Amino acid sequence: MISATTPWPYPTLFAHRGGGSLAPENTLAAIKMGLSHQFTAVEFDVKLSLDHIAHLMHDDTLERTTTGTGLVATQSMAALEKLDAGAWHSAGFIGERIPRFSAVMQYLRNHAMCANVEIKPCPQRERETGEAIAGWCSEFSRASVVKPLLSSFSLDALLAARAVSADLPIGFLVETPEQSHLATLAKLNAVSLHCHHATLTRERVDFFHQHGYRVMTYTVNDEARVAELIAMKVDGIFTDNLAVMAKKFGGALANGGQKPLLSA
Ligand code: G3P
Ligand code: MG
Repeated sequence: MISATTPWPYPTLFAHRGGGSLAPENTLAAIKMGLSHQFTAVEFDVKLSLDHIAHLMHDDTLERTTTGTGLVATQSMAALEKLDAGAWHSAGFIGERIPRFSAVMQYLRNHAMCANVEIKPCPQRERETGEAIAGWCSEFSRASVVKPLLSSFSLDALLAARAVSADLPIGFLVETPEQSHLATLAKLNAVSLHCHHATLTRERVDFFHQHGYRVMTYTVNDEARVAELIAMKVDGIFTDNLAVMAKKFGGALANGGQKPLLSA
């Protein structure tokens, strides 16, 4: 189990939604794009189809990123897989499909990549989504050197995930970090707090570090802000700006190497 007394195994920089702005979000093409820019760590969003198949998707509705319409939760996986999930981005990605979570995890394992799996449940499916994804992540992580880090804005999804697995690392996602989040982090036996970067100050980073929690932050596309956050010793930064960040902060793409927060 990762804890405040063990080294942090993830790189600092994560490709947001797989490939940032360079590829259609939450697709295999996006993850391949991330890897082609030396990002071995990726963040992506996962939810369930009507027939309980986990797949990568951010929105509860299909219109923004696919050729479909309506609610994701009312569609079978077979129906979701017929949709085009690349055309909205650019012509070069026409034909890209919504990937199954299992296929993505297989790809990550084959390429020695690590993941922040954001559980993004459709409304009223918080517990079942958290349970299902934690179950599959537990199986996947048996053969992985670095376990996937689960996160969610949904406390119910995370509590359900924790009930399935005592070992998987969990991060709690919020907009603004507050001292009151300590109680939730403790309840989840979480390893990290994830928040919007605009709400982050050195004092807030230090506060959570002193209490033994890593701090991760979304979504940072300005290189000067990334430099500030690295100087503040933020543990994870999600970015859409892959080409610029890879060029400027190559060291932040390397796996692990960050020391324990607290001594044993
Ligand atoms: O997990 C960090 C970030 O992805 C959270 O926001 O809306 O981009 O999934 P969102
Ligand atoms: Mg996300």
